[in-house]
Amino acid sequence: MGGDGLQFDTGISRQMEVVYTAPDVVEQRRVVRAALALRPGDRVLDVGVGPGLLAAEMAPEVGPEGRICGIDISDSMLAIAQTRADVPGGPRIELEPGSATSIPHPAESFDVVVSTQVFEYVDDVAGALEEVRRVLRPAGRVVLLDTDWDSVVWRSSDDARMQRVLTAFEEHLVDPHLPRTLGDVLEKSGFTLTHLQVVPMLNVGYDAHSLSAGLIDIIAEFVSGRAGVGADEARAWADDLRTLGPGYFFSLNRYLFVASAL
Ligand SMILES: C[S@@+](CC[C@H](N)C(=O)[O-])C[C@H]1O[C@@H](n2cnc3c(N)ncnc32)[C@H](O)[C@@H]1O
Repeated sequence: MGGDGLQFDTGISRQMEVVYTAPDVVEQRRVVRAALALRPGDRVLDVGVGPGLLAAEMAPEVGPEGRICGIDISDSMLAIAQTRADVPGGPRIELEPGSATSIPHPAESFDVVVSTQVFEYVDDVAGALEEVRRVLRPAGRVVLLDTDWDSVVWRSSDDARMQRVLTAFEEHLVDPHLPRTLGDVLEKSGFTLTHLQVVPMLNVGYDAHSLSAGLIDIIAEFVSGRAGVGADEARAWADDLRTLGPGYFFSLNRYLFVASAL
């Protein structure tokens, strides 16, 4: 992850965990799990496992004969994921520190590698895909989900301010537009793309327990003092959104890639 990007320290990790329990993000994981189509006995690696919500949902799907491993570069995320390591009907989730570009597992260890909203933080995506290929068995598959931040539609009382805030927030990622090139990079890395899908996120009417409402404080804090956005402006941007009530509107696209390591 770029040194100046979003740091998944204890505070951000806890805030993210709350955001990721919102119903719209739960639905996003349901779509990801449908694309994963796991079977009992599958061996799965979750790269950038985060708070472990997806890992915990996958565990009963692979059953006690399967394997769920998670790696992450953030100790605080791993500590949160550890609280979900024991899932009834599944194997104990195996968690360890590790980066997408240096995966701490032997070659051909997994049937499936999944990584949701992680590659957009990675400096060397081709290098990470090389690692994914190494740890996958022949004909194993990878499932990736990333956001293109040009897809944001977010109602505001001040569109120019919204644009300044979103431009500053793009600095939280290495590549805020990764999905538009990811198919090419997958093919060049020796994968065959088998499925590509848009996963739209939509919040209509202000709901504190939704993806976008949960991101407001994280964004306001991140953009303060960046790209010409001051702390007062960031606060005014956040306050405005919370007053929109039933008129609140947010939408953004994630893109889901399934590819085979043939
Ligand atoms: C936005 S969170 C997504 C968490 C989880 N995948 C999910 O969808 O719930 C991004 C996660 O990727 C991790 N991360 C960032 N760069 C990474 C890298 N190079 N290798 C492994 N994990 C990374 C962060 O620490 C964080 O836990």
